[in-house]
Amino acid sequence: MNEFLGMQPNASVHGAGVDSLISWVHWLMLALFVGWGLFYIVCLVKFRAKANPKADYEGVKNHYSTYLELIVAAIEAVLLIGFSIPIWASAVDEFPKESEATVVQVVAEQFAWNYHYAGADGKFGKTDPKLVNPMSNPVGIDPNDPNGLDDFVTLNEMVVPEDKPVITKITSKDVIHAFGSPALRLKQDAIPGMVVPVWFKATKKGEFEVACSQLCGSGHYSMRSVIKVTDQEAYATWTQAQIDKKNSGGGGDDW
Ligand code: CUA
Repeated sequence: MNEFLGMQPNASVHGAGVDSLISWVHWLMLALFVGWGLFYIVCLVKFRAKANPKADYEGVKNHYSTYLELIVAAIEAVLLIGFSIPIWASAVDEFPKESEATVVQVVAEQFAWNYHYAGADGKFGKTDPKLVNPMSNPVGIDPNDPNGLDDFVTLNEMVVPEDKPVITKITSKDVIHAFGSPALRLKQDAIPGMVVPVWFKATKKGEFEVACSQLCGSGHYSMRSVIKVTDQEAYATWTQAQIDKKNSGGGGDDW
């Protein structure tokens, strides 16, 4: 059904629930589309001017349309209460512990995605907007905070391990953007002044597109990025390489 709708194959654990919801919503919409279309045609034929030369001031007496409306409302309630709310509740209730997850701070800006990693110590250094330097310190890491010494920042490329929860803490430097990855069934607005955590667990290795999903200015189209899902070993190697690159004076990836 979802491939028929043109969706990318799902690559995350929670995605199956999202897909079943999308698929049920489409089946309901198909039924409504066909049902109302038929009703329209029946009305055109039944109430045509030729067969009804004189207006009927009585109107409809039966309650079928009311019953139909109630049935549609009931199905929509099932979709909302039976599918949407439980999927959302499980995503919120089962939020993984940070100690058992890969944590990445996602900082959107016009027109790029910065991915801030905590480095080997697993602790993020303090950041301050006043310390932001577009070339050497894109997220404003405080050089006086020891926790930040091994932090590194990548540009438009996020690497995460598969089969392990990933927590992305999403924010923005300037306007509202939206962090959207269709294959990972992920979408969250990046709002200046707010940090919104969302999480996912990738079920397969590969490169998955991230596209900004909120019109944010003239370069909106270019806010493309990639999430690379690797095995745990490759992720550890990559992380160490980023830290080494920073310590050798080269800054993080792409600084
Ligand atoms: Cu950022 Cu659209």
